[in-house]
Amino acid sequence: MPKQTIRDLELKGKKVLIRVDFNVPLKDGVITDENRIVEALPTIQYILEKGGRAIVFSHLGRVKDESDKAKNSLSVVAKRLEEHLNQPVVFIPETRGKALEDAINKLNDGEVLMFENTRFEDLDGKKESKNDPELGRYWASLGDVFVNDAFGTAHRDAASNVGIASNIEHTVAGFLLEKEIKFIGGTLESPERPFVAILGGAKVSDKIEVIKNLLNISDYVLIGGGMIFTFYKAMGLEIGKSLLEADKVDLAKELLELGKGKIILGDDVITGKAFDADTEKNVRSIEDIPSDELGMDIGPRSIQLFEKYIQSAKTVVWNGPLGVFEFPRFAEGTRSIAQAIADIKDKATTIIGGGDSAAAVIQFGLKDGFSHISTGGGASLEYLEGKILPGIECVDDK
Ligand code: 3PG
Repeated sequence: MPKQTIRDLELKGKKVLIRVDFNVPLKDGVITDENRIVEALPTIQYILEKGGRAIVFSHLGRVKDESDKAKNSLSVVAKRLEEHLNQPVVFIPETRGKALEDAINKLNDGEVLMFENTRFEDLDGKKESKNDPELGRYWASLGDVFVNDAFGTAHRDAASNVGIASNIEHTVAGFLLEKEIKFIGGTLESPERPFVAILGGAKVSDKIEVIKNLLNISDYVLIGGGMIFTFYKAMGLEIGKSLLEADKVDLAKELLELGKGKIILGDDVITGKAFDADTEKNVRSIEDIPSDELGMDIGPRSIQLFEKYIQSAKTVVWNGPLGVFEFPRFAEGTRSIAQAIADIKDKATTIIGGGDSAAAVIQFGLKDGFSHISTGGGASLEYLEGKILPGIECVDDK
C-alpha cells in the first residue's frame, strides 16, 4: 500500500516531529560516518522551506546505565546538523519536561530544535525501546504532525516511531523513508529481470531468511563472504581453518537443494594462514584448500563468474561483503563486485543493502555508483527477508 509523504501535508506554522536515524558511529566523540545525517537533510530542509517548525530526534547507541549517557549524547550530532543546515539548531539535553516544552513553544516557522537521545528513556524500564504507551503519547503531544524518516530504525517497534504514530493524527514518510520503500520495497514487489541478488557476510545464520526470500523472488543468488565455507562443507569439500557454522551445514545443504540452478557459488577463493591483515595470501581452487589455511575472499575466477551475471542484470541487490574487505589485500572480491555493479548503473536498478556493504562502497569511493545505498543495517536485512517493518507500517496509507 503506498504511503503518505511530507508532500501530502500542510507544514506552515506546524510543529513537525521528525524521527530520524542519527545512530552514527562515533570514535572519541567524533562522527566517523555522517551518511545518515546527510541523507536526512532533504526532509529537514523541505520542512523548513515550507515554514514548518522542525523538532528532530533520534536514538544513538544503546543506553543501559547512567555511564552510557555521556558517550551517547546527541549534542555532537546537533552541532553537525547545524553546520549542514547552515542555521542554528537549538539543542535541548532532555527527552521530556518543561525546558523541552518551552523551547518547542518558542520556535518560529523555519527554525530547528533537536532533543536528546530517545534511548535515555530506556534507563527507566526501556520505555523507548519497548514502546511504552505513555511515552509515545507524551512525545506525540509535543507536535502537530509526525514525519518518520528513520528507515534504519524501521524494524524497531519503539515509542519514537510506532508510539508517536499511534497518538497523532498525521504520520507521513520523509524523503529518505520514501526512497528506501521505493527502492527496496518496490524491487521486491516487481523487479525488472534478470534480478541478481548478491549475498555476503560471515554467517549463514544471519542470512537464512534473506536467502530464502530472495530465492523466491530473484533469478540468481550469488553467494560470497565467510558463509560460503559452510556451503562448501555442505558440498563435501574440505575447507581448512575457514569459518564454519557446523550446526548450519544441513541447512546449507537444504538451501543448495532449494536453490538448484539459482544459487551461484564461485569455484576459487583467496586464503591466508591466519586472520591477519598481513598474512600470506594464496589463490586456491575450492577443491584444494590446505588444512592450515583459511578463506579470506572470493577468488579471481569467482569474481569473473559473478561479473558475468551482474553485466546482464536489470536489477541487482547486494547485501554483505564478499571477503575481509577491512584488510586491503583481501578486499579485491568486494571491490571488484562493487565496481561491476557501479558499471551497470545506467542500465539497471542497483541497490546496496546497508551495514557493511554500504560502508565498503563508501570506502571504495563508489558512493555515487548505485541507484540506492540503504541507510539501514538490520532494517534493510529484515526488509529483504520480506518482513513487515513496524516503522513503515505505522505511516498513514495514501
Ligand atoms: C542501526 O544502526 O541498525 C539502527 O540505528 C538501529 O539500531 P539498534 O540496532 O541499536 O536498534
